Amino acid sequence: MRSLRTGLSLASLVTGLALLLAAPAAHAADTPLRDLAAAKGKVIGTAVTGSKLTGAYGDIAGAQFSSLTPGNAMKWGTVEPAQGTFDWTEADQIVAFAQAHNQQVRGHTLVWHNQNPSWLTNGSWTPAQLSGLLQNHISTEVGRYKGKIASWDVVNEPFNEDGTYRPTLWYDGLGADYIANALTWAHAADPAAKLYINDYNVEGVNAKSTALYNLVKSLKARGVPIDGVGLQAHLILGQVPSTLQQNIQRFADLGVDVAITELDIRMALPADSAKLAQQKADFTSVVAACVAVTRCVNVTVWGFTDSDSWVPGTFPGYGAATPYDENYAPKPAYYGISGALGGTTPTPPPPAGACQAAYSVTSQWNTGFTGQVTISCSGASLSSWKANWTFGAGQQITQAWNATCTQSGTVVSCANASYNGSVPDGGSVTFGFNGSWSGSNPVPVVTLG
Ligand code: G3I
Repeated sequence: MRSLRTGLSLASLVTGLALLLAAPAAHAADTPLRDLAAAKGKVIGTAVTGSKLTGAYGDIAGAQFSSLTPGNAMKWGTVEPAQGTFDWTEADQIVAFAQAHNQQVRGHTLVWHNQNPSWLTNGSWTPAQLSGLLQNHISTEVGRYKGKIASWDVVNEPFNEDGTYRPTLWYDGLGADYIANALTWAHAADPAAKLYINDYNVEGVNAKSTALYNLVKSLKARGVPIDGVGLQAHLILGQVPSTLQQNIQRFADLGVDVAITELDIRMALPADSAKLAQQKADFTSVVAACVAVTRCVNVTVWGFTDSDSWVPGTFPGYGAATPYDENYAPKPAYYGISGALGGTTPTPPPPAGACQAAYSVTSQWNTGFTGQVTISCSGASLSSWKANWTFGAGQQITQAWNATCTQSGTVVSCANASYNGSVPDGGSVTFGFNGSWSGSNPVPVVTLG
């Protein structure tokens, strides 16, 4: 009896061990970034593209982040491509998505020297006309979204690297007071919105950030409505400024909020594990610097997935700058953010002696494809299995064999058939399926559970 009981518990221990080894890294069970941030009194955001807010992209944007910034949808060139002709489609879509997911919106951006419509940049305007156009633009856009936008990047990138004003349509035509006027007009259109000046290369203490500091100080002294500064933080691997926290603190001490508004950390491609580990450390230190200063209210990444980042297009040979890879799998950088927000380090991936699943597309045609998953064990075994994944581009399973597959939204779960649940040590089992796809058919990460 005794030996039977011992035998039984040993057997279940071995089965349990095999299941444990087969367990995925379990990021689905991790606390979402937005909940971790909320517990620290912070908001965590991402820039988004409106047309992508479905499938896995929409699921992650909605679940992980408490703030959205339209990457391009609210820029002047997008919303008023011809004078007097407005297109709010993408901006409205993002605002509606944010409301449905209980998220803030950072409006971006009202006054900039880039992405303006050609009718504006090619026109020849008197200062009075230019000022009228700007006031009208701000009143129209801020007024349209009154009560729906938590913060506006009112003025974007007003400084040169040496701290002088950047010569732009606005500075050249209206002088430095275009900044104070823009803030005043935005405040009149939505008194509750927090109004920011946003710039890049102002993360550390330097000539440019000091010019921004002096501007904010003088605007406050004049009673101009300025609520915050945005530090964009388009950073390079291993180059987080050592004075970041000190710089955030000096702005906070002026009596304004601070937001990290466009965080990404680019690396020379290809990425490797050492670079990804450095990137995790860099994301950790940026988020930790914000967490350390009470008035640092928001950290926003400029796109959460490497498939939706501006970096490769602008810096050829560089990329991998965001916390999720191109297939929407969280990278070490993601865990850098979650760790700095107080999250626990996830279960490490199973060691070499374990069971693993490999997904491949065996054939593909215009609207369909055949895929297969092979589950193989080495140093472990399984008596039953379930293979789980999330499709990243709207793929849909239509038929499966050698497994029972169910799909709910983007999430697929395939369980063994009655005859192939057992995968011995050193053995493998393969099942197959047909699916539909359009646009792209990226390979998902399969986990066993
Ligand atoms: O929409 C057109 C599309 O119709 C066309 O086929 C395609 C061909 O090039 O271009 C598309 O427009 C692109 C647009 O992004 C939307 O994808 C523009 O070429 C491209 O220049 C534009 O880049 C944007 C960039 O600002 C412009 O300066 C990036 O997406 C956007 O992420 C980036 O964001 C800025 C912030 O607003 C301010 N701080 C810096 C940051 C990075 O540059």
